[in-house]
Amino acid sequence: MADLRINLAGIESPNPFWLASAPPTNTGYQVQRAFEAGWGGAVWKTLGEPIINTSARFAAVHYNGQRVAGFNNIELITDRPLEVNLKEIYETKKRFPKHALVASLMVEPKREKWHEIVKRVEDVGVDGLELNFGCPHGMAERGMGAASGQQPDLVEMQTMWAKEAAKTPVIVKLTPNITDITVTARHAVMGGADAISLINTINSLAGVDIHSWQTIPHVAGKGAHGGYCGPAVKPIALNMVAECARNPQVGVPISGIGGISTWQDAVEFMLMGATGVQICTAAMHHGFRIVEEMIDGLNNYLDDKGIASVEELIGKSVPRYSNWGDLDLNYRVVARINTETCINCNKCHIACEDTSHQCIDMLNGDGGKYLQVREEDCVGCNLCSIVCPVDGAIEMAEAAPAGAPMSWNDRQRTLAKLNAGTAEMEAV
Ligand SMILES: Cc1cc2nc3c(=O)[nH]c(=O)nc-3n(C[C@H](O)[C@H](O)[C@H](O)COP(=O)(O)O)c2cc1C
Repeated sequence: MADLRINLAGIESPNPFWLASAPPTNTGYQVQRAFEAGWGGAVWKTLGEPIINTSARFAAVHYNGQRVAGFNNIELITDRPLEVNLKEIYETKKRFPKHALVASLMVEPKREKWHEIVKRVEDVGVDGLELNFGCPHGMAERGMGAASGQQPDLVEMQTMWAKEAAKTPVIVKLTPNITDITVTARHAVMGGADAISLINTINSLAGVDIHSWQTIPHVAGKGAHGGYCGPAVKPIALNMVAECARNPQVGVPISGIGGISTWQDAVEFMLMGATGVQICTAAMHHGFRIVEEMIDGLNNYLDDKGIASVEELIGKSVPRYSNWGDLDLNYRVVARINTETCINCNKCHIACEDTSHQCIDMLNGDGGKYLQVREEDCVGCNLCSIVCPVDGAIEMAEAAPAGAPMSWNDRQRTLAKLNAGTAEMEAV
């Protein structure tokens, strides 16, 4: 069995699966049950001045038969008194000393407020702190959450204030509702962050009821923007994690969050630079026991690959993530249709004919009609293999390159050299 333990900036955990700060980590009862089920860590539901929540507060996007393809909420931070949360954190840590227990914090951007809350949660034995600069609604209107997280200077300053008082590692949780996440990530690091976590939820409106014309959800006939998460946001989160992981000016461990539902999703985040992952929507959809399958799946995967420790995965795919300008413009793939498995549904032909490069022909053979790609006209866009309903019926095969490897950046460098040479000759 592989070693599943991780160490995120000094916070140790028996496995990389943590519950994210959200409804599943609202109480000691829940976090203790989660630890019993196998979760390696939990980030407590954000602590701060308790608020009053709205009813209703959740909505989901069900897509083509899949329940909860995306999840939307207008919930705020904890609505329980700080003293109650602190007592339960203390009891939970005492019962589960080897699990990672992190307190998520959100206070007004004032130095003494950060000092006070940091001290109070550290006194009850947390292993680390997560500063919530991410919530897009409600708290933002009060100058906290994403309102702080969208201003790099405020992220840096508040991280610094938390660090001034903190004895445990400080993780800064980032909002995706910005243009370039590496800017806020860098400012968190400049403020002294020991790690970053991302992403919090994405600004969203789940839907509008076309019969009542009410927003979904609505509170007494009015709606407000909420935060989107769940499987739909995974590609956005994965890119943001990768962008931070490959930026040398960030350079701190990353806790990956956003749309993670399976052990495979977790592996992807770790390959792209996350030291561990946090999960909210999948636990809310399926319950705490999904972690059993995640642990088994991850163990089997590592054993099959002969990898002794899960930490060996961290960042292995990061060097493969680059800028568009570094991609080889002469590399070519072409589509090949396997006539043995093709069911002649024609989806690829229609997609190619209507919306791509018109290179899939419908031909007549001895056995009837069949589809074939004119490889010389295929641009290797992948669309036919994406719309094909039969796994493996369309293969994207490597074809002879159009020339020696050459990227846009190579091209620009060569042109610049040529221009410099011409200018030199003209000068002579
Ligand atoms: C109902 C709900 C409440 C949440 N509350 C918090 C919170 O109090 N603090 C916080 O940092 N993130 C909060 N989040 C965001 C999650 O921690 C997480 O960042 C986000 O849901 C993305 O992960 P997921 O796709 O696995 O759900 C909340 C999310 C949901 C759905």
